[in-house]
Amino acid sequence: KKVVLAYSGGLDTSIILKWLQTEYGCEVVTFTADLGQGEELEPAREKALMLGIKPENIFIEDLREEFVRDYVNPMFRANTVYEGQYLLGTSIARPLISKRLVEIAEATGADAVAHGATGKGNDQVRFELACYALNPDIKVVAPWREWDLTSRTKLIDFAEKNQIPIAKDKRGEAPFSVDANLLHTSSEGKVLEDPAEMAPDYVFQRTDDPVKAPDAPEYVEITFEKGDAVAINGKAVSPAEMLTELNALGKKHGIGRLDFVENRFVGMKSRGIYETPGGTILLEAHRGIEQITLDPGAGHLKDSLMPRYAEIIYNGFWFSPEREMLQALIDKSQENVTGTVRLQLFKGSAFCVGRWSDHSLYSEAHVTFEDDAGAYDQKDAAGFIQLNALRLKLLAARNRRLKG
Ligand code: ARG
Ligand code: SIN
Repeated sequence: KKVVLAYSGGLDTSIILKWLQTEYGCEVVTFTADLGQGEELEPAREKALMLGIKPENIFIEDLREEFVRDYVNPMFRANTVYEGQYLLGTSIARPLISKRLVEIAEATGADAVAHGATGKGNDQVRFELACYALNPDIKVVAPWREWDLTSRTKLIDFAEKNQIPIAKDKRGEAPFSVDANLLHTSSEGKVLEDPAEMAPDYVFQRTDDPVKAPDAPEYVEITFEKGDAVAINGKAVSPAEMLTELNALGKKHGIGRLDFVENRFVGMKSRGIYETPGGTILLEAHRGIEQITLDPGAGHLKDSLMPRYAEIIYNGFWFSPEREMLQALIDKSQENVTGTVRLQLFKGSAFCVGRWSDHSLYSEAHVTFEDDAGAYDQKDAAGFIQLNALRLKLLAARNRRLKG
């Protein structure tokens, strides 16, 4: 038996690795992805070797460009937010990790994959739905749902018994649970579990405190092509470079913090702290370019479908016909979403302060309050209003009649 483990190199997945070898009796292949979490990956290789993984069974990959190009960017074309506020930074990374797990399983002759998500959360659902969608025969091992290491003490005992190194600060309770990638950092659990209590400062990792942000605003120009950001301040950049640069700007100005209680797919409410600096700037910028380039019929239709699209991604159905159908509609809407926006970054916010495009539908000739030289005949509006009012008048007349 052979299993491919999504391995971060951290304590929990190292324990899982050992547990798979000793309790499950299977050969382990490790997969560690660089999604822009900002951690060195070589230590994960050394740790895997130390835990007895054969060199040819260690997979370490830089997936940053693929992550932004094929997952983050398609999602941002819809201005996607879950329950009004969450930019889905964790949700959108799971399908890519799952895809590579399945591919590596096929390449190494493994019949199973394993992940370190608990039995209480969304991530288990996302990993497993994606894996099954890509390979209906794959087996999934979710140690958190199976083992009897039900407390921190038991985990630490198991680690010590198996010579797994434990960082000093991990001996006690880790202060909270973190998931990070190029799009965001999420923190949940422990000190954050009481939603009435303000999150302590040390929870925030990739944004400076907006209260202490620079007193002078900073301006940035972002150019879009068919809905995707392609250049910053006139310089063409790759998808991952774009998010990296926007993250640096967002960090400095304290942009993209969110303290949020959400509904998990499994039914419970959960409180999390999110930091999405670059993504928050990108969302404001994308809305800005859509303002002048989208037809209102197209724009209102895609907006009305966005919450459903967000829920599909949140619930782990990235690889599903309904997500692909919506994606086709969203991508079609972006054909003319090309142009540049200028944003002001200031104390926790990104404001769109200018937008221009060769594809613009904005007509100053029509909208001007000055002399429009015959572009628009105001008399047309009278009939427009009369016909739109007809049904309202009939309703009002009936109400008056029935009231007597
Ligand atoms: N609640 C967020 C989501 O479901 C973040 C989950 C964070 N995952 C983690 N392993 N800490 O998308
Ligand atoms: C987990 O349970 O592993 C993290 C939280 C989540 O998946 O929602």
